[in-house]
Amino acid sequence: MGRGVLTQYAEFLPLTPVTPRITLGEGETPLVRSRQIERETGGEVYFKMEGCNPTGSFKDRGMVVAVAKAVEAGSQAIICASTGNTSASAAAFGARCGLRVIVLVPQGRIALGKLAQALVCGAQVIAIEGSFDQSLEVARGLSDRHPFTLVNSLNPYRLEGQKTAAFEVIEALGDAPDYLFIPVGNAGNITAYWRGFQEFHGREKSSRTPRMMGFQAEGSAPIVRGEPVADPHTVASAIRIGNPALWQGAVAAGNESGGGVGAVSDDEILEAYRLLASAEGIFCEPASAASVAGLLKSTRQGLSVAGKQIVCVITGTGLKDPDTAMSQAPEPTVIPPDLEQIEKAIIGTLGGSSWTRL
Ligand code: F0G
Repeated sequence: MGRGVLTQYAEFLPLTPVTPRITLGEGETPLVRSRQIERETGGEVYFKMEGCNPTGSFKDRGMVVAVAKAVEAGSQAIICASTGNTSASAAAFGARCGLRVIVLVPQGRIALGKLAQALVCGAQVIAIEGSFDQSLEVARGLSDRHPFTLVNSLNPYRLEGQKTAAFEVIEALGDAPDYLFIPVGNAGNITAYWRGFQEFHGREKSSRTPRMMGFQAEGSAPIVRGEPVADPHTVASAIRIGNPALWQGAVAAGNESGGGVGAVSDDEILEAYRLLASAEGIFCEPASAASVAGLLKSTRQGLSVAGKQIVCVITGTGLKDPDTAMSQAPEPTVIPPDLEQIEKAIIGTLGGSSWTRL
């Protein structure tokens, strides 16, 4: 346990004997069986818990490879644009390796926890008065002009690391599932999972590949619409992206696997977000709930998954985005430290008049 992606999957990664085997304990995340959502869908549903990574999102799998290769190449600075999680991960691994970290984020549009992570880890955070897509354009320009290693998913090492999540799914289930539901933003993760499933296909334990079911938010769904979205909007700030860098990768994953890329509304995302938390005990960030929203929408629209194995990727922890969490939950009850008053409040909310009703 806790060996890290570079050690555990060395044979599948572009490592050399001198690549530093850094780790913060990323990877080896649990695959948790659903209780409630599988009752509604009729499938055998699992959640790949990527919020259990050290900085709370799947980004650590790819970042550890990108940063190790940057160190190996003698780079002293890394740069990325981010809707938040990539910057948190870059800041952590960069700090670990003594690198300078520069992150460009769309001003006012990233979740509080992610901003806090990048700042506390000592990254230089530049808030761009514009979108993620504009921030990425600037980051690319800066990495062309200066010796800053770009660690967005355009960096090929990022996808190499992220594909290891597919290996773990196969190992946990004993084969690939029938379906993989996954949120899509910049489209790196769906591209990486598809690569991972293809690489393991035909080897021991992997007799098939899953249908890749990617989901964008309706207000930020360029792939579904077939054209970039100039002013993307959605409550799921992590996937508020109008022109995904890995667009073709997502299209290929959908087409080649017999799946596709669809869209879910903010209401559908928030319904899945609340359901995951209240019925499964899984507190994820809104973007992560897009995978489950996609599953619920697909089955409600007639997709039959009875008896099928389904994995939903839960890409990040709910602690990243306390503002959305609080907007979706009731206020706590405030009462003086008085037993009778508190008892009344508790029994009152249960709708009963005595403890026997418990
Ligand atoms: N879920 C979460 C929690 C994310 O942070 C992201 C992307 C995605 C899903 C979508 O993954 O971009 O590979 O399709 N976050 C990036 C970032 C864009 O900057 O942190 P994708």
